[in-house]
Amino acid sequence: MGDPVAEYSSRLQQQEQEIHSLTAEIESLKNPQSLGLSSDLDGLREENAKLKYRLNILKRSLQEERSQCSKTMMNINQRLQEIFGEAIREAWPDLENPPLAVTPNQQAKFGDYQCNSAMAMAQMMKSKGLKVNPREIAEKIQQNIPDNELIEKTEIAGPGFINVHLKRSFVSKLLTNMLLNGVQPPPLEIKKKVVVDFSSPNIAKEMHVGHLRSTIIGDSMCRLFEFLGYDVLRLNHVGDWGTQFGMLIAHLQDKFPNYLTVSPPIGDLQAFYKESKKRFDEEEDFKKRAYQCVVKLQSKDPAFIKGWNLICDVSRNEFQKVYNCLDIQIIERGESFYQEKMIAVVKEFEAKGLVEMDEGRKIVFAPGQQIPLTVVKSDGGYTYDTSDLAALRQRLFDEKADIIIYVTDSGQGTHFQVVFAAAQMIGWYDPKVTRVEHAGFGVVLGEDKKKFKTRSGDTVRLMDLLDEGLKRSMDKLKEKDRDKVLSTEELTKAQHSVAFGCIKYADLSHNRINDYVFSFDKMLDDRGNTAAYLLYAFTRIRSIARLANIDEVALRKAAETTDVLLQHDKEWKLGKCLIRFPEILQKILDDLLLHTLCDYLYELATTFTEFYDSCYCIEKDRQTGEVVKVNMWRMLLCDATAAIMAKGFDILGINPVSRM
Ligand code: ARG
Repeated sequence: MGDPVAEYSSRLQQQEQEIHSLTAEIESLKNPQSLGLSSDLDGLREENAKLKYRLNILKRSLQEERSQCSKTMMNINQRLQEIFGEAIREAWPDLENPPLAVTPNQQAKFGDYQCNSAMAMAQMMKSKGLKVNPREIAEKIQQNIPDNELIEKTEIAGPGFINVHLKRSFVSKLLTNMLLNGVQPPPLEIKKKVVVDFSSPNIAKEMHVGHLRSTIIGDSMCRLFEFLGYDVLRLNHVGDWGTQFGMLIAHLQDKFPNYLTVSPPIGDLQAFYKESKKRFDEEEDFKKRAYQCVVKLQSKDPAFIKGWNLICDVSRNEFQKVYNCLDIQIIERGESFYQEKMIAVVKEFEAKGLVEMDEGRKIVFAPGQQIPLTVVKSDGGYTYDTSDLAALRQRLFDEKADIIIYVTDSGQGTHFQVVFAAAQMIGWYDPKVTRVEHAGFGVVLGEDKKKFKTRSGDTVRLMDLLDEGLKRSMDKLKEKDRDKVLSTEELTKAQHSVAFGCIKYADLSHNRINDYVFSFDKMLDDRGNTAAYLLYAFTRIRSIARLANIDEVALRKAAETTDVLLQHDKEWKLGKCLIRFPEILQKILDDLLLHTLCDYLYELATTFTEFYDSCYCIEKDRQTGEVVKVNMWRMLLCDATAAIMAKGFDILGINPVSRM
């Protein structure tokens, strides 16, 4: 047998088509003029009634399948938009692009979701000279809501909000599906290819906190796309090419003359870089030689390529330490990869007459952009602009990417804007088809709100920072006496989980657009929206079943046989929060703002606490402490919460431990 989901989907599609043609038929039957004089009206009426009857049966079975075939999780918000879209089309068939707005309701008393289209539609009609009261519009929408599987009732409130109350039985069924099938992504129509360009430090220079942000944010974006089923290419666009390698190699030749046979012990590449820069600035001969080295390197002289590789390796090893700590997978494809491609790109722009000369430089102006790109410098060398054009072209044409995302600090916003505009101008891609986007982020600040630096004013080495995180997280665990409870191995695991989880979460939980203040004290605080809090909450939730002696087999069995009851207010609130997971992911897919996921996980954890405080999962004998009753459906709610949290952590790149 084939994939049941695909099979159901195609059946759904067939049925939807049938409904369409039946509806059309009914419409034409309603209109007697089109039937000619010979028509037997009674016969047609009868036929019409029969068709309507069949249509209803089909609609119902469509709904049944919708709620049963879903191995994947349903995006409720999207489903409600479909329903309201249909209602609006039914009521105003001629209205083009009616505004569709559905949001979850903040206050439970107003229902679970809210459709706010009526007000916007009134505005829209008003602009066409039609004065209609939004409340009347809301009523008409309400009357036209099609038969569906998830709405219990709707109410109109205020100026024209339509409050939607979901069916508890429906939410319960979704939760059961999730428990049985695991947290599955919503269905994906086509597998798209995504390139994420992130981390991307520069060889021979220190990888700094900006690169750390890019690494954390980019990795999490990749994880989201991967979970949703996209084909993701994670690229490290390292700065490994350019004139600085001339002086580095010249210095290498002097300092380690036998570098070709004996691997030079460059421990501190930073210092090495500084030394060669100093010589470059001060010694005329050295400078000359540095330039010759660039030429040799560009002509691929093996001795120079070797030197270049040696220098890159030193940096590479340093970067890799950071990636290992943070569990980052990434493919290195630096600027040097695009050398030949840059030549071709410049030719392509020249052939199309898009290149202008400016004081010996070759520049390209893109429509709507103030600043030009410099594609060739006056000394004939290429630039950051040229390599990004070549990289973009390669990703579009060779990688055949549908989505390309660049994760760097917002300071590079203009650079990317101009590169994208130039690529569109030359016809490489159409933004309506291919999504090419710069996901910028703010700078990292110290607790003094100034640029993040060490006390002595140097850039902070990332490995030092990560080490300090480890030290601080261990202090915290000891402060909580965890060292008295956990084995040494468990303690070390918890230490790593907390340290790196907190560093990542602190970054991801703030809107990336803003600058953010790096503070170990804040991120390790186990109160508030922090990884420390969530990790503790998560281990606690997972221990509930264990402490009641309920194993996975029993939970699985329960999921198969026990309905997840949602009668208590707090059960209902938790249930609704759980099923919002897919719509949260969808939103992030659109705006690439991962803090939404953090906010959601925090909300989930606090909603869980409310539930746990007021709903007994197990009841114990007051005297003996013995478990006298297990409320299995509540154990299932604990299990579902843990499952969603685990998936959330997974997407954020946070690695929870079983005991901490
Ligand atoms: N190496 C650059 C830097 O450190 C970041 C590169 C980002 N990616 C790109 N395709 N330009 O600022």
